Amino acid sequence: MKITDNSFIFKQLDKKDELPYELLLLADPSKKMIDQYIRKSDVFTALYQEETIGVVALFPLTKNTAEIKNVAVKTEFQRHGIGTFLIENAIQAAQSNGMKSVVIGTANSSIGQLFLYQKLGFEMTEVKKDFFLENYAETIFENGLQAKHMVVMERALKC
Ligand code: ACO
Repeated sequence: MKITDNSFIFKQLDKKDELPYELLLLADPSKKMIDQYIRKSDVFTALYQEETIGVVALFPLTKNTAEIKNVAVKTEFQRHGIGTFLIENAIQAAQSNGMKSVVIGTANSSIGQLFLYQKLGFEMTEVKKDFFLENYAETIFENGLQAKHMVVMERALKC
């Protein structure tokens, strides 16, 4: 890891730009699932010294609510505030688009992510039981736990 300052750039991809699948697959192991939402999402990247080191995808769930469908940071750049930077900037983009809330879903086994999203003001609102068992062919284990359910979290935006 070679970060010497915090000069990350948050940049929206054009629809014609190549998608950073290597990063997207870190957050969502199913390319089939990614392809269901990615072209309908606003996709932003974090650049550091011209290198793409993170991605976040913002999907219009309803007229008033955007969903962060995917957020990922290159492994060697994790735990340096870039995930926070991506999420905070995605929230600002949703707010600029007139959204009233942002939701994010993660697995019951994603302990660090559950902690991070709560630190960023997201509140748990729903559990989609068996979501990962029903929608993913592969068995997913993290932190010694099987990913079974999706925990949905929401952050209300100031008008
Ligand atoms: N374990 C414990 N705490 C964690 C972890 C972890 N793995 N990751 C983040 N945190 C918490 C910590 O409190 C951390 O602060 P600290 O390092 O000072 O202790 C805090 O969150 C802030 O972390 P950031 O540095 O801002 O986050 P990072 O740049 O590491 O990005 C992310 C977080 C995006 C989850 C990254 O770890 C990643 O890409 N993981 C793999 C992909 C992934 O799981 N994406 C989310 C899936 S859900 C979805 O996409 C909607």
